[in-house]
Amino acid sequence: MQERILRNGRIVNRGQIVEGDIWIKDGRIKQIAPLIHAPNSIHEVDLHGRLIFPGIIDDQVHFREPGLTHKAQIYTESRAAVAGGTTSFMEMPNTNPPALTRELLEQKYDTASRDSIANYSFFMGTSNDNLEEVLRTDPVNVCGIKIFMGSSTGNMLVDDRRTLDNLFSRSHMLIATHCEDEQTINEHLEVYKAKYGDDIPFVAHPLIRDDLACYRSSSMAVELAKQHNTRLHILHLTTAKELELFDHTTPLKQKRITAEVCVHHLHFSSDDYPQLGSLIKCNPAIKSPSDRKALWQGLLENKLDIIATDHAPHTWDEKQQNYMKAPSGLPLVQHALVLMLQEVHAGKLSLEKLVEKMCHAPAECFRIPDRGYLDEGAFADLVVVDPETKWTIQKEQLFYKCKWSPLEGVNVKGRVDQTYVNGNLVFDHGQIVSEKPGQRLVFTPLE
Ligand code: DOR
Repeated sequence: MQERILRNGRIVNRGQIVEGDIWIKDGRIKQIAPLIHAPNSIHEVDLHGRLIFPGIIDDQVHFREPGLTHKAQIYTESRAAVAGGTTSFMEMPNTNPPALTRELLEQKYDTASRDSIANYSFFMGTSNDNLEEVLRTDPVNVCGIKIFMGSSTGNMLVDDRRTLDNLFSRSHMLIATHCEDEQTINEHLEVYKAKYGDDIPFVAHPLIRDDLACYRSSSMAVELAKQHNTRLHILHLTTAKELELFDHTTPLKQKRITAEVCVHHLHFSSDDYPQLGSLIKCNPAIKSPSDRKALWQGLLENKLDIIATDHAPHTWDEKQQNYMKAPSGLPLVQHALVLMLQEVHAGKLSLEKLVEKMCHAPAECFRIPDRGYLDEGAFADLVVVDPETKWTIQKEQLFYKCKWSPLEGVNVKGRVDQTYVNGNLVFDHGQIVSEKPGQRLVFTPLE
């Protein structure tokens, strides 16, 4: 791995933007200073004032391996991740077979240790009958425990109240939940099926999976966590109503209950279904413009702690089916940062806040040492961003195995020029330039 100095960057870190140089050595940041004096033999890169962010940490992706590799693979999607500035990911257990035992989970880590170009971790999955196995999960080497308290891709619904009570009361690790109430969804679905059969218009998706379905489930998760003092992280919040469940006064490091919002719920709204239909069908559904507005407010006032993607690729053909058959989920990981840069240009979000929500906060929430910040001694996971260049998102640039994006044809300003993972340059001006695998993430266990 080459020792190098990145010169003349604008370093976005810890709520500040500072001009300076970064010296990368042995996979870590050796020095950050306005002007670094170093031997001439060290390779130098002049950034001409481009931005340097810590690498993005995405706490919710679906890379589909094992078993669903016709949709995506760790190899392809980790390359898409670094092309988008994401240097670490945490992946979900709804693969085939689902990751419900430590043995199956370790098989995913084995694959990633060979194929993932980004740093990686995998959630332990839960079912109504794997409690004892879940409780044996290693908290240092696994990011958390995932509970589908609402069903989505894969059959991983945990709906048994006693199982939930046991998981919430006995878990020594962070529990991440997908919250949607199954009964409410099914009642709504019956109404629409009676009217339309299987050809329900996609615009009905947020009415079937509505705010009541979300609130009933997320309020139950919060109630259980408060009762048992569980470290709860609720994934992909989508509604104004749910925001009342979250606290914005406690500093993130001290919160026991945290929340995530995803880029598609911040970017799209129900107004987009007529044009994009199944391509933006996902769970929880993309909701109304007023819900989106509330999510932005919740994010800026720190009720929502993390921005992630829920990158969930399906094949183009799968997505061409009718409402009942088209699977939920959309690929996003390659454009998460770029999408949020548009919000910076629009004046909705500062660069410092973007970095807080996509880099610092995931490291804090999951207690990942030495990542998420540009600090001397930390791993050199970083992204060089040109904030000004205008370009159009196109199919040919996609690293996704599924080779489509709901963002094709969208004009954007700002792009990822380079991505470094553990000091290794992996993405450089549109090309993957290294095959070196990333590292398994480690976590500081809860006290
Ligand atoms: O839309 C979604 N798709 N939501 C999820 O929670 C799962 C995901 C998938 O795996 O396809």
